[in-house]
Amino acid sequence: MKRLVTFTMMWATAALAQTPPKFTALDARQISALAKSGNAKAGAATYEVCAGCHLPSGAGKIDGTFPQLAGQHSTVLVKQLADMRAGVRDNPVMHPFAITLTDTKLADVAAYIASLPVPHDNGIGPGNELGAAMKLYDRDCKVCHGQRGEGDAAKFFPVLAGQHYPYMLRQATDIRDGRRKNANPDMVKVIKPYTDKEIVAVVDYMSRLNMPTPKK
Ligand code: HEC
Ligand code: HEC
Repeated sequence: MKRLVTFTMMWATAALAQTPPKFTALDARQISALAKSGNAKAGAATYEVCAGCHLPSGAGKIDGTFPQLAGQHSTVLVKQLADMRAGVRDNPVMHPFAITLTDTKLADVAAYIASLPVPHDNGIGPGNELGAAMKLYDRDCKVCHGQRGEGDAAKFFPVLAGQHYPYMLRQATDIRDGRRKNANPDMVKVIKPYTDKEIVAVVDYMSRLNMPTPKK
């Protein structure tokens, strides 16, 4: 009996170690491999259908209905698209398009989008509390999203520079309230105690971040 219990515990531990974190459909190794294998030239053709919503430039819409995509890290794009394809990130509008992406197409379209320059005319917030917001950003968000909103490709932290204010407001609130299920648990922990007012302020600040040079 004791042996059986020990065996069961060992099995459970091994199974846990192999299960990817629940917040993502692919593990880190798979995401990095796909991001590396993408062919931007081939991805341009796949992107044509995406351009209907996200625009040919990848700039999305200032009102935040469709996010800015251009210049996003290919690792982030692969993660988000794979999560939408698997239904881990709920997106009823895009799901029918996400499920048409094979791994190859997904990698290619991510490489293409990552190669587009980040636009600088994104939707920004009202600018009411920028001083206090900067303090919140520096304390809580900068460690992952970067001084200028550049994110971190290796860790799947998105570029937020050039992203639309209303889109980020919706995402930050959804992440706080558990509606965006694929969010990094470490970010959820940080944003959980935020009031609506604090989210408005910090996202307003983020909407004004600028990448130093346009990405290739
Ligand atoms: C019918 C409109 C539509 C089409 C077509 C579409 N998308 Fe989207 N996409 C959206 C919407 C809406 C969202 C934001 C959903 C939300 O608020 O969570 C989104 C979100 C995304 C995101 C997440 C961005 C982020 O910052 O996390 C990526 C990546 C993306 N789309 C890529 C694509 C690609 C690649 C294609 C083509 C294969 C595509 N989309 C086609 C509407 C569309
Ligand atoms: C531990 C790292 C980490 C911290 C700290 C963090 N984030 Fe994030 N954030 C992420 C990751 C990773 C994502 C992408 C969601 C995912 O798939 O996990 C994200 C996504 C977002 C998005 C949506 C971006 C998009 O393109 O859809 C917004 C907005 C955002 N974060 C705002 C914030 C704010 C505001 C703070 C500070 C209060 C913050 N984040 C702190 C890691 C972090």
